[in-house]
Amino acid sequence: MKVIVVGSGVAGLLAAVKAAAKHEVTLITKDVLGESNTHYAQGGIAAVTATDDSVAEHVQDTMYAGAGLCWQPAVETLCKQGPESMNELIRFGVEFDRAEASDKTAFALGMEGAHSHARILHVGGDATGAGISNALVQTLKRSKAQILEHTLVTDLILTETADVPKVTGVEVFSSEGIEALEADVVVLASGGAGQLYRHTTNPAVTTGDGVAIALRAGAVLADLEFYQFHPTALAVPGSFLISEAVRGEGAVLINNRGERFMQKIHPMAELAPRDVVARAIQQEMLAQGGEPVMLDATGLGAEFLNQRFPSITAACRNYGLNLAKQPIPVTPAAHYWMGGVATDSYGRTSIPGLFAVGEVACNGAHGANRLASNSLLESVVFADRCTEVLDQPWPANFDFARFRDQQPMRELAVDLSYDSHAPVVDRVELQTQMWDLVGLAREDLGLRQARKSIKGWRPQKRSKRLFTDYEDANLLDLAKAVTAAALARTESRGAHYRLDYPETNPDFARPITIRKA
Ligand code: SIN
Repeated sequence: MKVIVVGSGVAGLLAAVKAAAKHEVTLITKDVLGESNTHYAQGGIAAVTATDDSVAEHVQDTMYAGAGLCWQPAVETLCKQGPESMNELIRFGVEFDRAEASDKTAFALGMEGAHSHARILHVGGDATGAGISNALVQTLKRSKAQILEHTLVTDLILTETADVPKVTGVEVFSSEGIEALEADVVVLASGGAGQLYRHTTNPAVTTGDGVAIALRAGAVLADLEFYQFHPTALAVPGSFLISEAVRGEGAVLINNRGERFMQKIHPMAELAPRDVVARAIQQEMLAQGGEPVMLDATGLGAEFLNQRFPSITAACRNYGLNLAKQPIPVTPAAHYWMGGVATDSYGRTSIPGLFAVGEVACNGAHGANRLASNSLLESVVFADRCTEVLDQPWPANFDFARFRDQQPMRELAVDLSYDSHAPVVDRVELQTQMWDLVGLAREDLGLRQARKSIKGWRPQKRSKRLFTDYEDANLLDLAKAVTAAALARTESRGAHYRLDYPETNPDFARPITIRKA
């Protein structure tokens, strides 16, 4: 059968590699192969490999970080399949760091926020994403899969069969113009949408294309209001990520009086769940007139920092900062989208023939706040699972087991229409509105103001669009959907913090779903 995979982060690469053993696969990627969030992932990939650790504890940590919204069966699948997924990556050529260079049995395991054990495998110290991505790119190049680079999927093609629309291909845009490509199934693995925000750790390609095209095709989306802000991006243009693993090794956060502030906020201090640390930093920054807080890793020593965090040390050096000798300025930045295209535990969406895996998808494994280093794991586990069922008949009367267990608190329909006389959306203005009004702390008035501004823009006319215009059109649709979900969740939970509803409402431990009106 013909399989189209969209995206070349770890989820897309792995899905394509596995599917190519059995099917006719085309992987479409809008930049060069491998350019994705995965490539820049530093900290690592969480999985239980140590004898004093257990899957039950990994499940418990994931559920705790997820702030009451994780769907336990997805979490169990994720954590149980972790160890075997690591073996699979090793078979595909990934070389995880070992505790002792001469000892090929034990992995060097890092610690990160909200984990009860050191269980983060890494590659090249802090170059885990690149290590995994490079190995899978090489494996894919040796397979029979066709690879289309610099090609953007602009929309899904649906065909009505027995009154049910089914995906039968994709429309793509490249230097050759617009083209339609046929497929029996399409696997979206196109990542998140960090570019929705003014400050993000994500690369330029993260414009949420997969979520947007699924939304326009009528797919059900879920948990869109939960966008995770990483606590520690270097406070410089480009928001270079300073891995949580640096805090895991003992670095501490200090304010402009040189005082640690996390100890009084959470018993896990600097290693509290990410949403807690990010909000505490934001508060501290507000109290010091917007000045970034500092991350002090000087206690770790130059030799250790160079060996454990070579990329971070080098990046700091490029900005004139010496990580071993001085505290460095850090600030939160948009990092990971817990929400996305709703899927079952095999990546199946509400549209027959359409799968979604990795950050583009939402299967309930991350809840309201993803546990550190669970994202690469989720991509591997669910990409793998989706390839097991690509050629199986679509389940009759398909529905989501998650939504039977966790009945949605709201089922929203978002209006994607626009005024054809409105000005064309300006990406920086859109990102600024999202950062200021739909960011780390939200409230009704600001969210309504954001909704009004967003409604005041239109996408570029199709006949005039360049690559970036398609991306902007996607960001515009997604901004509408995220803002609608953030308005509808009148409580605070995980990454979604409402100044006007600061409490968590136990009755709202349920997803909000969205589809187009
Ligand atoms: C980090 O290295 O802090 C990022 C890892 C993650 O996002 O899980």
